Amino acid sequence: MSKYVGVLTAGGDTPGLNAALRGLGKSALGVYDLQLIGFYDGFRGLMNDRSVILDERRLSGILTFGGTILGTSRDKPHRIPVGDKLLDMTDAMMEVYEKHHLDVLVCIGGGGTQKNAYRLMERGMNVVTIPKTIDRDVARTDTTIGFDTALGIATDAVDRLHSTAHSHHRIVLVELMGHNTGWLALGAGVAGGADVILIPEMPYDTNDIAEAILDRVRSGKRFSIIAISEGALTKESAAKRDALIAKKEKARTNEEKEAAKAKILEWEATQANKTLTLAKNLEVLTGLETRVTILGYVQRGGIPSARDRLLATELGTTAASLIANGKYGNMVAVCGEKLKPIPLEKVVNRRRTVPLKHSWIKAAKRVGTCMGD
Ligand code: F6P
Repeated sequence: MSKYVGVLTAGGDTPGLNAALRGLGKSALGVYDLQLIGFYDGFRGLMNDRSVILDERRLSGILTFGGTILGTSRDKPHRIPVGDKLLDMTDAMMEVYEKHHLDVLVCIGGGGTQKNAYRLMERGMNVVTIPKTIDRDVARTDTTIGFDTALGIATDAVDRLHSTAHSHHRIVLVELMGHNTGWLALGAGVAGGADVILIPEMPYDTNDIAEAILDRVRSGKRFSIIAISEGALTKESAAKRDALIAKKEKARTNEEKEAAKAKILEWEATQANKTLTLAKNLEVLTGLETRVTILGYVQRGGIPSARDRLLATELGTTAASLIANGKYGNMVAVCGEKLKPIPLEKVVNRRRTVPLKHSWIKAAKRVGTCMGD
């Protein structure tokens, strides 16, 4: 008997989501005789039962499109904004799942989506997930859909900034996305030959960066490119954040927890302009004119790279095969050259950060890149 499969895309969009939907859908329909229903705008569309039958016609011609034909949102099933309240709408989602006689829901998303899918699984839904995010920070998978395209865009930016930094004898800081992990800034920094790379995993000392830039000046290089991750912090800020998190973890009563959370939010607000602050400090310390480029959402836009299309097609089709075999409760993960199902409980509440001994860090240091530490 044919199975009914729901699918949604959730969290920040990335190039390659449509390729994943196409891979999942074409193999589901063509090979495994499954029926596919898409829900719009992530978990919100599931809650509101806004759906579309994903037939052959709808799945055709989307391979190269950026974004997601289903739309997305950052809504979490257990905290959906309704009026001025955040409500747990998991039961409403369960009703829609049952109304459509779904056998399984496929959730395509980053770390947050894996967790949300796991929550739905705990309430009784069958789920299968596919990892996507330009941050490449989902646990237990070597990579994620969207990272390769974003890496190409970010590297292109670092390349292009070289000629203008060189012509004006300036320091140029390019802030790259990545949330609290440094994969994107590190990858683009190494590939683009940035002189300084700053990532959240390695808190930096501004004086050390200034000294590295002055060393370059002394050797006749009057410009420097800094690839900085949006989550990178000074050593002092990182210590402050760690102390606040430790306090939150020690909090016993609800009041203590709320107060600790408020302190963290307060601290986060002080970090809003940290790349601009670093630029100003470096200008003072080095005497070089300094400029900042915040690359932003351009890193998530446009046509997916060949590698992302390939990955998305492999992950989508593998998800369909897992469903056909009734292997629910798994994320399809990349492990070396292979794709493997990883139980969701091993994925959630973890983040894949850059290990300090990673070969990209070693390579960066060996070509003389300052990592700010
Ligand atoms: O997770 C992908 C990402 O682009 C991060 O790199 C960035 O911190 C975040 O999303 C931005 O989120 P939003 O799209 O909600 O502004």
